Parts: sequence; C-alpha cells; structure tokens
Amino acid sequence: MKILENKNILIGISGSIAAYKAADLISKLKSCGANVKAIMTTSSAKFVTVTTLESLSGNEVINENSKSKISNFKHLDLAKWADILVIAPCTANLMNKIANGVGDDLLTTVCLAYNKKLFIVPAMNPEMWTNKITQSSVEKLEQNNINIIGPDYGKHACGDTGYGRMCSTEHIIEQLENFQAQKILSGIKFLITAGPTREPLDPVRFISNYSSGKMGYAIALVAKQLGAEVNLISGPTSLNKLEGIETTYVETSDDMRAIVNQEIANAEIFISTAAISDYRPVKYSKSKYKKSSDRLTIEFERGSDILQSVAQQYPDIFTVGFAAETENLLENATEKLQSKKIDMIIANIANYEKNLGFGSDFNKVTIISKDTNVEEIDSSRKIDIAYRILKKIHKEYFVIRKRSKKNA
Ligand SMILES: Cc1cc2nc3c(=O)[nH]c(=O)nc-3n(C[C@H](O)[C@H](O)[C@H](O)COP(=O)(O)O)c2cc1C
Repeated sequence: MKILENKNILIGISGSIAAYKAADLISKLKSCGANVKAIMTTSSAKFVTVTTLESLSGNEVINENSKSKISNFKHLDLAKWADILVIAPCTANLMNKIANGVGDDLLTTVCLAYNKKLFIVPAMNPEMWTNKITQSSVEKLEQNNINIIGPDYGKHACGDTGYGRMCSTEHIIEQLENFQAQKILSGIKFLITAGPTREPLDPVRFISNYSSGKMGYAIALVAKQLGAEVNLISGPTSLNKLEGIETTYVETSDDMRAIVNQEIANAEIFISTAAISDYRPVKYSKSKYKKSSDRLTIEFERGSDILQSVAQQYPDIFTVGFAAETENLLENATEKLQSKKIDMIIANIANYEKNLGFGSDFNKVTIISKDTNVEEIDSSRKIDIAYRILKKIHKEYFVIRKRSKKNA
C-alpha cells in the first residue's frame, strides 16, 4: 500500500523561477497514486503553463480566471477537498502573506479556509530567504504547525550561492509520506534541554557559549508533532515559547541540573541538546570586577555532567547527547558516547564559515548509536534534522524496549 494512495493533494504554485519543478512534483505524486489538483497564483503563469499542469495532474488547473462548474465558493470547496495542501514553490511574497493571514487572491484565501496540514516549500534568492521579515514569517508559520520543507543550499539561477533553492521532489514526497505515517511517538514522554547556560562572574558579567537553542527547540517541536509528550528545559535564548510544550526556563548549569533532577523520573527519553557550561566560577564576586590591574584571573571548577549522571542513575531512560566538535568529530563523539554510557550521540562540527551549527538554522550532523551504527545527515534545516534524529530514536528505542520486555 502506497502511503499517499487516494489522498487528495492540492499543489499551490507561485511566481518563482522554480515553478517548473511543480510539474515534476505533480507527475511523481500521481505515480504515488494521489489525486492531484493544481492552483496557480497569477504571477506563476509567467513561469509555467496551465496546459503542462493540467496534462500532468489530469485535472483542471484552478486560477483566478477559472470558473468552477460546481459552485461559487471555489476557495471553500478546494479547502475541503484537500487532505494535504502543499505550496511548491512558495515565493517570499506568498510566504510572508500566509504568515500574516492575508487572503487577497484565490490561493491565500484557500490557505485561510484550510484547516488541515499545510506544507510550504520555499524557493527564493538567498538574500530573500535570510531577510529578517522572511525569517520571522518562517518562525510564525512553524509555530502555527505549518511545515516548511527545505530550502536547500546551492547555486541559484540569479548566480548567487546560498540557502533558498527549492528542495528536491523526492525530499518533498518523503516529508508528505512522513506526515501521513502514524504519530510514531504517541504518548512517549520526552525531557529535552536546549540553549546555553550562563555562569555569572559578577553582577554584570557571565561566561556562556554561542548556543542559540534552535536545535533543541526544533526537536521539541517535531517530537510534539509526532505525538510525544514534551517537557522542555531552556537556557536563555531569543526564541519564542513553543505552543503546547511545557517549558521551564533556567539560567545557570546548576539551575539546569536541578530541574533535570526534578523532572527526569517522568521521562522515557532524555535528549540533552543544551550547551551546558562544563565549568563554573569557584567564587561569584558580589561586586563588579574592577579594571585595576592588567590581568584578571578567575578560577573555575568542573560541574557534574548532567547527561552522564542521568545515564548512570536511570539505565531505563533512552539518553541522547550532542557533541559539537572542532576537530576529530567521529573519534571524539564516539569517545563521549562510550564514556558517558549513553544510547546515542549527535555529532556536528561547529563551523562558522559554512553557516552551520551554533546560531544557524542549518546543521550537518552524524548520528552515532550505541552499537556504533553511524548515519550521516547532509547539510539541512534543523527542523528536518530533528525529524531524522527522532525517527532514528524511535527505531532504536522500540528495539530496546522490545528486547527488555522479552528478557523480563
Ligand atoms: C525572473 C523572476 C524570477 C523570480 N523568482 C522568484 C523566486 O524564485 N522566489 C521568489 O520569492 N520570488 C521570485 N520572483 C519574484 C516574484 O515573482 C514576485 O514577488 C511575485 O509578486 C510573486 O507573486 P506570487 O507570490 O503571488 O506568486 C521572481 C521574479 C522574476 C521576474
């Protein structure tokens, strides 16, 4: 049985140079057994023809000019008909409109009237993608449970290189299939830590790191979408609270440790994405350090490793850690996995030049499991990486659970 067989899929097409790729998407979705209809914005007609899309979908293309033979409420009919609505390609213009609830043409009105799963596949120039307004729309859309697929990194038609390329048809279909698949983490209790910690030195200074919390928040969001019960402990970040996810905010590594200890007994899976300070100052100075001498020496001491102590004290909890390394990625990460006795480690190189890792929306990671099974995930959005990590956790966690039930 094909997952998308007999599903009604509405493809929205907007005015991007990548609009021709919608033809391939429609054709491949048809091969998956889906019923496909296309709805075009006015400007998309400059990039792809109605005839092409009608021939491939086998259905009349809907645009501002089409007259429905069934009713005058085209936008409502289409919103009801579609099991899945995918906008591919989605221009910056359209994405910003949808994020702000604008409904000034047929496609945006369908989006407003549609109450099922909406997928957006952005395609735009790298500057348009990194534009702050576009990025705030991305955040808003994701918070409203709208899935954004891609974009990819690469060379654009305009000659620029960067993120913003429409991702491949295969990847889009994989995401739609994933969504149609069951809520694989239904009812499983996750405890997730995210973001940096701050270790105060004096009333105005602290020591911290570049963690933005984006990876941990992405994992929390996707775990919830897959049906998990998520409890998030967040260090200081600039990210908005995720709707429907219980979140506790902490500042120092000691605070993080205390809340983990308080919550861990309820968890089945513990994912430590937080970049917790390894060291804290031995002494906190109640008054501000003065610049009276040329040198200042502050003594630090190691704090206990939260992930390691959870793995030791709660062997039944599936434990996952992250290792951001600057060299010898696999060796260092594997060493961490084994010495901490955890179930899985996600390794990544902290690489500022390629806009990956800390602070970025993208990452490139390697998942290493206890049995040293290695899975590499090429440069992708953190939200997509989160999905891959959770799928892997799901697979391994259920194998372990089955095994321990058998032995009980
Ligand atoms: C040659 C050309 C290529 C374009 N490609 C893109 C694109 O890939 N992504 C994008 O966001 N806008 C692109 N634009 C700009 C959009 O077409 C423009 O914002 C338009 O108003 C979008 O309308 P729509 O969102 O209603 O389809 C392009 C414009 C031109 C002239």
